[in-house]
Amino acid sequence: MAERVVLAYSGGLDTSVAVKWLGENMEMDVIAVAVDVGQGDDFDSIRRRALAAGAVESVVIDARSEMADEYVAPAIAANALYEGRYPLVSALSRPVIVRHLVAEARRHGAGSVAHGCTGKGNDQVRFEVGIRSLAPELDILAPARVWGMTREDCVDYAAKHSIEVEATKEKVFSIDENLWGRAIECGEIEDPWSSPPPEAYTLTRQSRNEPLEVVIGFESGVPVSIDGRQMNLAQLIGEIGAVVGSYGWGRIDMVENRRVGIKSRETYECPAALALIMAHQDLESLTLERDLAHFKTLIEGRWAELVYDGMWFSPLKQALDAFISTSQAHVSGEVRLALAPGVCQVSGRRSPVGLYDHGLATYDEGDTFSHADSAGFVSLFGLSVSTWAARQGIAVPGSGQ
Ligand code: ARG
Repeated sequence: MAERVVLAYSGGLDTSVAVKWLGENMEMDVIAVAVDVGQGDDFDSIRRRALAAGAVESVVIDARSEMADEYVAPAIAANALYEGRYPLVSALSRPVIVRHLVAEARRHGAGSVAHGCTGKGNDQVRFEVGIRSLAPELDILAPARVWGMTREDCVDYAAKHSIEVEATKEKVFSIDENLWGRAIECGEIEDPWSSPPPEAYTLTRQSRNEPLEVVIGFESGVPVSIDGRQMNLAQLIGEIGAVVGSYGWGRIDMVENRRVGIKSRETYECPAALALIMAHQDLESLTLERDLAHFKTLIEGRWAELVYDGMWFSPLKQALDAFISTSQAHVSGEVRLALAPGVCQVSGRRSPVGLYDHGLATYDEGDTFSHADSAGFVSLFGLSVSTWAARQGIAVPGSGQ
């Protein structure tokens, strides 16, 4: 019996060519595994294409709820934006896929797992580090890193082997999409100065003009409702993305530092991700105690970096998760978003467990703040500086003294 390999299959050009190539060059039986993380593809057609390309088996797994509840929810809690901007769309989906690849490899008695990534990107890192974290005994194959074919060669190879693909030799965008957003790379936008053409965008085309307010409800850091309607997270992300996107809001255009050292021009549209992280961050401003809030921001960037780097299952990531999860206990309440063409901003927040105390904050009647306490507090707060100033004096910049 031929050796079995589980291939992460997307239905696109590279992974379809990989099915054939692994059979021809490695004499392996390929089990194609397609994981639905909300990319909106036709999975019946993907299943058919895998078999037509020569897979001995084609498996489709619906992991949309899993992706939302176990991967996106922690990312919202962490306000996760790589380099302050990218909500980790592709990075969050890879560990979901990895988990299923490993499970399918065990179920089918496969000794290796293959992916279609090239050597230039982050996704190879995420797949391989992820697989090694969960199943160090599995071999990893990356045919696209060794076959030495250009995109055009792949199109020719597919044609020669009658592999059904939609790709053409024309330079088009490389798209990776899931329920958290859409990444658009390659083609004419490889030049960081070129403006992305309007047709590059699909989730953020403006179709609405009239201003609108929507209220997002959170429980312990997790978005649970829109305008009071409770729903599961996958559904909520879909709904909020559609409405925010219809105002033409949610695009990111950046030069990003890949793990492998390349700077890359990236274009994203992530209306749901950016709106929900903004709302969540705002609710934290109302519900987190000051020291906790400040300390949390110190680890948020590191969390995003770990996930970007494919370290989803690492011990540091797990330890940070424990901290973040504890911090979310009281992040419950509502945030109102105001939408208009090209605009999405917070216009209000409230929480039954909020720390905002009107009596303490007000300058009007009903003031409960102890003004007399401030004199002593401020004096002691500045004591070390006033002691230093009295002993050593201070040269005031620009005063010539
Ligand atoms: N630069 C983004 C990331 O590393 C997007 C990657 C998109 N992946 C793809 N295979 N087109 O997460």
